[in-house]
Amino acid sequence: MKFLVETIGCQQNEYDASRLAIFLKSAGFIKSTAKEAGVIFILACSVRQMAVDRIIGRIRNWQRDGKKIYITACVTDDDKKKFTKKGVTYFKDFDELSNILGLKAISYKLTADSCYVPIMTGCNNFCSYCIVPYTRGREKSRSTNEIIKEVTQLISNFSTVQYGSEKPKIILLGQNVNSYEYGFAELLKKINDLPGDFIISFMSNHPKDMKADVIDAIAKLPKVNKEIHLPLQAGSDKILKAMNRPYTAEEYLRLVESLKSKVPKVKLTTDIIVGFPGETEEDFQQTVKVCKKVGFSLAYINKYSPRKGTASYKLGDPIAWSEKQRRWKILDNLINKNK
Ligand code: SAH
Ligand code: SF4
Ligand code: F3S
Repeated sequence: MKFLVETIGCQQNEYDASRLAIFLKSAGFIKSTAKEAGVIFILACSVRQMAVDRIIGRIRNWQRDGKKIYITACVTDDDKKKFTKKGVTYFKDFDELSNILGLKAISYKLTADSCYVPIMTGCNNFCSYCIVPYTRGREKSRSTNEIIKEVTQLISNFSTVQYGSEKPKIILLGQNVNSYEYGFAELLKKINDLPGDFIISFMSNHPKDMKADVIDAIAKLPKVNKEIHLPLQAGSDKILKAMNRPYTAEEYLRLVESLKSKVPKVKLTTDIIVGFPGETEEDFQQTVKVCKKVGFSLAYINKYSPRKGTASYKLGDPIAWSEKQRRWKILDNLINKNK
């Protein structure tokens, strides 16, 4: 049977997709194109409604072409029901998929050749707008030994792969890597000390967990990339509070100052949400102000999308799409254009 794995959402999904492809190949499936595949596996993302809608549209087209569709990863309970009604089969993990497909227990080695290494899954932060804690569950850190073993294996593959002039990169993944249970700074040091010429990147970071030991590790460890993703989300204290982001604009800026002084070549990237319920023009201008002060090299700017089941859902979606678009454009011009 020919299959295709479709991925939307973050790098966690990309990593899981590469493992799913290995699993399917070991079960005798053949990787193929969207056109030729008889069965399509979707790794879904629910972070914004637009992503969900897009997937629903594509499912319709694929089903029209007679393809069988399976879905996994970040799906809300409501959407699970919707997908099931449309004849799409949801599965939670490889075990459940094996049962559904009637696969016999097969032995397979789930090492992907991607550069991603998840160090933790889930999230405990419950930012009021965000669905991730509901779709991915609570934070769970992998053991340091397990991570080191996986990184070592990746590094040993590096020598056999052509990277041109670029150094190979290891990207540590987690919704909130700096709250890694067994010490993020220590983990960085252990990976840095492994032999080989490679770069260590990581994402995402929560400002509240970006403590001095992590900043020092970034500054001192030569293999650690000096480009840090530090989601701001908003520059107004009122909105940050409503978002359940436990820092003020002032505290965020202090953190940035500390990074800039200890890591002279640091580049900062960020995530921002525009049009959160109650965000006035004045609040938005606070975000603009913080962005100007920081000088981000890149920002992922997101228009607020209400997610059923999250705390801020009850606030509705009072800001018009056109106004969100206007604010988006202002920040996009400020940060992402003229580069
Ligand atoms: N754990 C990561 C982010 C995961 S979601 C972190 O905290 O950095 C990626 C981004 O999507 C978030 O940073 C946020 O900017 C955006 N996002 C999450 N929920 C959203 C929503 N309901 N509407 C619009 N953007 C949202
Ligand atoms: Fe969502 Fe906040 Fe967790 Fe990031 S830290 S995944 S934005 S709840
Ligand atoms: Fe989306 Fe799930 Fe990642 S909701 S952003 S794919 S953790």
